[in-house]
Amino acid sequence: MAQLWGGRFTKETDKLVYNFNASIGFDQKFYRQDIEGSIAHVKMLGKQGILTEKEMQDIVKCLNEIREDVEAGSLEITDEYEDIHSFVEANLIERLGDTGKKLHTGRSRNDQVALDMRLYTRGEVLATDVLLKELLETIIKIMEENTETIMPGFTHLQKAQPITLAHHMGAYFEMFKRDRLRLHDIYERMNYCPLGSGALAGTTYPLDREYTAELLDFYGPTLNSMDGVSDRDYLIEFLSACATIMMHLSRFSEEVIIWNSNEYQFVEIDDAYSTGSSIMPQKKNPDIAELVRGKTGRVYGALMSLLTTMKGIPLAYNKDMQEDKEFSFDAMDTVKGCIALFNGMLATMKFNKDKMRASANHGFTNATDAADYLVNHGVPFRDAHGIVGQIVLYCIDRGIAIDDMSLEELKAISPVFEEDIYEAISMETCVNKRLTVGAPGKEAMERVIAIEKDYLSKN
Ligand code: ARG
Repeated sequence: MAQLWGGRFTKETDKLVYNFNASIGFDQKFYRQDIEGSIAHVKMLGKQGILTEKEMQDIVKCLNEIREDVEAGSLEITDEYEDIHSFVEANLIERLGDTGKKLHTGRSRNDQVALDMRLYTRGEVLATDVLLKELLETIIKIMEENTETIMPGFTHLQKAQPITLAHHMGAYFEMFKRDRLRLHDIYERMNYCPLGSGALAGTTYPLDREYTAELLDFYGPTLNSMDGVSDRDYLIEFLSACATIMMHLSRFSEEVIIWNSNEYQFVEIDDAYSTGSSIMPQKKNPDIAELVRGKTGRVYGALMSLLTTMKGIPLAYNKDMQEDKEFSFDAMDTVKGCIALFNGMLATMKFNKDKMRASANHGFTNATDAADYLVNHGVPFRDAHGIVGQIVLYCIDRGIAIDDMSLEELKAISPVFEEDIYEAISMETCVNKRLTVGAPGKEAMERVIAIEKDYLSKN
């Protein structure tokens, strides 16, 4: 049991207590960030004359070697240490003797762990953003290829009005674009360095916190040492952004599952992204989409867990905060995995354009446009609504679409109809006359695609 704080104690820690308290099992995940933070701290101590130039250089060199040895697998992080901070410091002392004992000058594990977690989270914010950008690139490609692919748009999961596949995909583009903007906002707010906050009240050493912040690519130091050690807002914000990303992925997954069903057949998920059944030979299941939908729960859980952990903690550091890690790491890994897998599934998915088109044709998705036709010929909208309602009933009885009715049949219900009704309610007309910003009409869609491509080229 390697601990940093034995001096004041007269008894060994009970083994169960030791295990309950230890965090090495999970905080080893940020050994790189711990070493990176220590190197910045030591360089600053050297610059300030708190350590000699030689001590500084020896420690930096040795810390780099420890990192390399861990990466090479020749130095194992074991649970004989209480936490990752103890592991690094103990190894440093073992290799450097008394010089190694100077590493922790002017620092507490409280500001150290606050820094490590912030550095780790900052890296995850950026990694998640990269994955979201890749997903947006897949989506925009599908959009560009499908501005004329007509499909039904739904409300209440009932066919409503015709749209295009480009338009449907465009809705998800907006969601994931907002998710990226959220990550950028979080980055801006979180990018301040807590190192130098000490245990809670700063330190009497003449630390240069601006310098440490600069070495670690932060905008500057945090401005209150109590807040510096006990702020986990940035993590809560990131988990909240992760929960929103998962909510979007889950909605998208739900649609893929419906579209891939035997009844819809709008899409076919690639064999590489499907699984079979152990008993039913015919099955090809959308497991990836289902898992993404299912894993949304654990990411929401991480957010709820941390909000609850933080809500009763008096200033400043309390050990409760050690609970910020396990669920957060799980959520971060889950979100990254889900975005990447979903992207792969989407990029390889086949869209059955004929099925989509046929579904739009046979769901009275042009009923609104038939009513608009009557309105354009002087019929008040409420009456037009009633007339088209009768037409729909007539079609349902005969199992046909509005377009299948002869002009005589239409005229029998309303004499206002003329030959040009067929053109007015064709799927192409219904879609392409919708040209307001954000609507599915081809020209409107192309303008939006140009805006989004410009956004992707700059962000
Ligand atoms: N393992 C601890 C954590 O994750 C490190 C900080 C320990 N500080 C302390 N005062 N016990 O929060």
